[in-house]
Amino acid sequence: MIKFVLLIVGSFLSVVLHGQSAIVPQPVNVTYGSMFFDITASKIRTTTPENLSFEIDYLRASLRERAKQNPSEVFRSDSLSIPIVLQLFNPDTLLPEGWYSLRTSENEVFISATSKTGIFYGIQSLLQLCTLRGDKRLVVQETLIRGDFPRFAWRGMHLDVSRHFFPIEFIKRYIDMIALHKMNVFHWHLTDDQGWRIEIKQFPKLTEIGGWRNSSMVGHYSEHRYDSLRYGGFYTQAEIREVVQYATLRKITIVPEIEMPGHAMAALTAYPEFSCNGGPFTVPGKWGVFDDVFCPKEETFQFLEKVLDEVCTLFPGKFIHIGGDECPKTRWKTCKNCQKRIQDEKLKDEHELQSYFIQRMEKYLNAKGRQIIGWDEILEGGLAPNAAVMSWRGTEGGIEAARLKHPVVMTPGSHCYFDHYQGNPRQETVAIGGFTPLEKVYQYDPIPADLNAEERKYILGAQANVWTEYIPNKEHVEYMALPRMAAMAEVLWSYPEKRDYADFFRRIESLEETYENKGFNYSVSFRRPQITTFSKNGELRMKLDPPSPDKQLNYRILQADMSILLPAQEGKGEIPISIQQVPQERMTIEAWIAGDETKTVVGFLPLFMSRATAKAVTLKTQPSKHYPGSGSGTLTDGVSATLPRINSEWLGWSGDDVEMTVDLGAKMSISEVSIGQLVDHMNWIYEPSAWKISVSEDGLNYQAVATQLSPKSTLRKVHFKFIGKNARYVRIEAKNPGKIPDGKAGAGESSWMMFDEIYVK
Ligand code: ACM
Ligand code: ZN
Repeated sequence: MIKFVLLIVGSFLSVVLHGQSAIVPQPVNVTYGSMFFDITASKIRTTTPENLSFEIDYLRASLRERAKQNPSEVFRSDSLSIPIVLQLFNPDTLLPEGWYSLRTSENEVFISATSKTGIFYGIQSLLQLCTLRGDKRLVVQETLIRGDFPRFAWRGMHLDVSRHFFPIEFIKRYIDMIALHKMNVFHWHLTDDQGWRIEIKQFPKLTEIGGWRNSSMVGHYSEHRYDSLRYGGFYTQAEIREVVQYATLRKITIVPEIEMPGHAMAALTAYPEFSCNGGPFTVPGKWGVFDDVFCPKEETFQFLEKVLDEVCTLFPGKFIHIGGDECPKTRWKTCKNCQKRIQDEKLKDEHELQSYFIQRMEKYLNAKGRQIIGWDEILEGGLAPNAAVMSWRGTEGGIEAARLKHPVVMTPGSHCYFDHYQGNPRQETVAIGGFTPLEKVYQYDPIPADLNAEERKYILGAQANVWTEYIPNKEHVEYMALPRMAAMAEVLWSYPEKRDYADFFRRIESLEETYENKGFNYSVSFRRPQITTFSKNGELRMKLDPPSPDKQLNYRILQADMSILLPAQEGKGEIPISIQQVPQERMTIEAWIAGDETKTVVGFLPLFMSRATAKAVTLKTQPSKHYPGSGSGTLTDGVSATLPRINSEWLGWSGDDVEMTVDLGAKMSISEVSIGQLVDHMNWIYEPSAWKISVSEDGLNYQAVATQLSPKSTLRKVHFKFIGKNARYVRIEAKNPGKIPDGKAGAGESSWMMFDEIYVK
């Protein structure tokens, strides 16, 4: 199928002439003319009105919304407007799934397709081609799309409604978002530790008890803070039916996820008898992974089968997602039921027990005509015979599954996790971590390069996941999903040879009109330039990266009181910070796209300069390859690392003592040294057990000047004050505290130490 499709692409490559119209995702081919036609009061015609009644109503309502007019004023007979014709025809050739064509001319707008799905996609393209003029007329540009269709069959968006709950009205709005990007799968993550969200008639406590918690984490996980508010909610089966119908009409299949055997705390709080030790449990307000999971005993399987019976009556799609991720084996190792099952079934270990669990559920669902899909952990201990795999811990799981001839949906954290930051964390509200800006999503290709042509056929597509630990409300879902959803949509719809980020960036500007029309709270972080600093020959430089390669930038530098130190000027790439370096001076670099005042989005980077800034640092022991920063220069780049951490701003060592020596370049009198440190015991990162600061004039003979922190020290930044010394070299030694103590996360493992900016006064 893929080969066939590629042939078609090759034969009608498009020419984009000019004009401001834009479609996202980019069609297989599209040509724009110079004329615009009025569709303010267009009549919608079709030869198959009974088949297309939903599509006609949808188009009519969307045009009304687009024109923002009083419905009674619209669709009166208006001789200025051309008709819109929808034509459903039976293909005599094999056209790809979802195919449509679209032509706008002075006579009519003509959309044809071989399926209602194709008509719907044609409508989405038409809606994006509309422009509302100043005189309130809705016009559409002269356009020819000779044939457009998606590259991948699975174009998915996921939403976690357990960590935070979103009512049915918002779920419909989310489906609208998915539909307008021509995506076709909604992965509804309905159950997790922090809340069970789907009514199950045979087990009412799942939602009565499992749907509610008495606290939630506040701020980032690393802060370990909680509120004490009751929080929860669930969907009734009637509501779910309504959503399924809503999605189906919009050509979207819902894949429900019922998590097992892990992420089950909410279910186990309601029915502790399905755990290994019987509980009692509470629905946790803490995020993460919990040791208490479903116990693979007969009663549990019967329970889950009854749950899935009801799930299957609600969701008609082929795939049922059974989770399978992040299931600790702690309880299973000491549970006599679990150990007996391992013996009876002649299983090697608890991983094979997990595989047994999943295979049992698969058999049950297969018998009901359904196929399971699970997170890539379901590969461990042996993949169930008919399972599809969702590759999230990188691409390896997907590669392995494709080689085993199993269907794969790619969703690696690096490119597909929309709970990650999309901009500099200094300018974003708190997120889980990571850095997945719009361009990174756009550059993703779901086909791993390692796969051969035969294996590639098993890649169904990809999806983006919206986990909601740090996404408490619907506005924030929209903010995290848009416009990254547009980038993912284009990754999945458009062929690689049609994809160009600068062009996409331009088309996004026109998509924003659609977002604004719908009132979506989309992010504009993608328009912020990226600012980094580094040193070259002892001089501090900045690097200004425009958000799109063809954009010019302006930048300026502000002082601590926000007065202007360096007025705005044009420039990008590497630029020396040609400011007289005043020790201890705070400055802020600001940069923005030049020439578009209405869309200015400023990127900024605060700097803190000292005698050490831009000076060379020698490390006795190199940091871990996982946390190398941009080399030792990261310690003197003028930028204090952030929390939540951007890994590239911190240097990290595991188990090692650390010795850092700064060459100030010349002898000078100094009396204060400080350094940033990261302390996060949950993540195995500890403060040193001892410090030593020593100084030297010649780089050979060092004199210790401090081993005690000064009172100014905090957990984030430690200070050392000493009697003034003449020195050119400053050495900081930090002793590793050794193995992590019992009772702490990572007990028995080596402690990490993480450091960043060094200041010398
Ligand atoms: C996952 O992110 N735990 C699938
Ligand atoms: Zn057990």
